[in-house]
Amino acid sequence: MVARYHASQVVLHWISAVLVLFAWTIGAFVFERVAGSDRAAQLLALRAHMAAGLAFAFVIALRLALRFALEQPPRATSGNAKLDAAARTVHGALYAAALAMAASGLALALSTGLPPIVLGRSQAPIPTGIHDAPAHTIHAAIGVVLISLVAVHTLAALYHQFLRRDALLGRMWFRQGRS
Ligand code: HEM
Ligand code: HEM
Repeated sequence: MVARYHASQVVLHWISAVLVLFAWTIGAFVFERVAGSDRAAQLLALRAHMAAGLAFAFVIALRLALRFALEQPPRATSGNAKLDAAARTVHGALYAAALAMAASGLALALSTGLPPIVLGRSQAPIPTGIHDAPAHTIHAAIGVVLISLVAVHTLAALYHQFLRRDALLGRMWFRQGRS
């Protein structure tokens, strides 16, 4: 029986946390700010956002594979069966929303012809209709769901760590040995 997540899962968990916060910050705050500025600034924001978003999806897919391939620690408990069930639902929803985020982002980029401009060498102007694309509405809505799930998940982790004082964060870190 293992006491905590495998080191590879720990590394990927925290990389995915950094990537999602980075991509979301650009999506929620930076795009608006660079909208009126030059092509280079807009391209930089799009490039950073799309690269981080795609890397995030790759890391999440790896995490899902490892979840099935490696032995998992016993389920953590909060002492309340309903909260424990909610935690399982939130974990599943985090994976689903993460993949839906990447899929809708990719659909948005493809439907507006962005990949050759942002990730390739095309010198074409940045399309003006990105905000009107149907995939934009879907991508923005999933973004709200994903970041809300991340917020609930983070608050739950802090509740465990500092109010229940059950050292839950240690299961997603390197300190404890295998039992
Ligand atoms: C940034 C703040 C975050 C904190 C403090 C945090 C903390 C934790 C902790 C302590 C665990 C272990 C729970 C357990 O032992 O049962 C965990 C698991 C998990 N975390 Fe996070 N996390 C954060 C961000 C994220 C993000 C951004 C995602 C995904 C988008 C995520 C997805 C998950 C999932 C799915 C699990 C369950 C592990 C699994 O079954 O694969 N976390 N997190
Ligand atoms: C971690 C995953 C991702 C997150 C959290 C995220 C989040 C966001 C957010 C919050 C917005 C702004 C929506 C609004 O206007 O309200 C946005 C816009 C956008 N995202 Fe993502 N996204 C992710 C992945 C991706 C991926 C993988 C792609 C493409 C490969 C992508 C392409 C775009 C594009 C083209 C826009 C519109 C840019 C603009 O308004 O100029 N996103 N994203």
